Amino acid sequence: MKHRLAVLVSGRGTNLQAIIDAVARGSLEMEIVGVFSDRPEPYAFRRARERSIPVVFVDPAGCPDRQEYDAALAREVSSFQADTIALAGFMRVLTPVFLNAFQGKIVNIHPALLPAFPGLEGQRQAIDRGVHYSGCTVHFVDAGVDAGPIILQSVVPVYQSDTPEALAKRILAKEHLTYPAALQLLAEGRLSLEGRRVIINWEGRIPLQPGDCVLEWLKIKDIIKGVPVCD
Ligand code: GRF
Repeated sequence: MKHRLAVLVSGRGTNLQAIIDAVARGSLEMEIVGVFSDRPEPYAFRRARERSIPVVFVDPAGCPDRQEYDAALAREVSSFQADTIALAGFMRVLTPVFLNAFQGKIVNIHPALLPAFPGLEGQRQAIDRGVHYSGCTVHFVDAGVDAGPIILQSVVPVYQSDTPEALAKRILAKEHLTYPAALQLLAEGRLSLEGRRVIINWEGRIPLQPGDCVLEWLKIKDIIKGVPVCD
């Protein structure tokens, strides 16, 4: 049976679109069972509806506090029997009420090379700090903010002339490949945890030279095969 994926969004949903497209291409062997939001009508819902994926708005106004909201959200997500929950621009920090309901099953994408620059505006933080490289990170979600075990990262250069918007665009292009690739590794059962480390079983894929991000990028491209990529 196909791995069942729930996606949580708050906004435009370009990562959701990348996931939808990867599923349609057959490079991500998951079924997207539902798209959930804390906003009534995010653009991401339009992307889901176009593919007849159910959308669910869970209204924060109906809940007195974050715990109650997370309990309501967990009830909705549970009813779709998801194996994995992908946060894709979901703008709420989840409490243990939600995290404990789906322990080890929640993943997120962040627009920086964690553990650097967690929280909001990772791209602006990178520019302000003067780093020469940034990128994106797909990670398991734990109780910290952008703090869980790292699954995949992709690197981009940061130029002196960069604005947060220009850097965000460069990073986003990598996000759209890295997120589906990380989810596919999950679907293939290739991920295991050793302490805070995610160990990836690359057997049968391009062998990784440890620490070589260029090769890791090739592997990501291999997983999401079929997309024209410009580095
Ligand atoms: C992305 O930059 C992602 O890394 C961050 O939120 C943004 C969501 O963008 N967590 P989109 O809604 O997927 O276009």
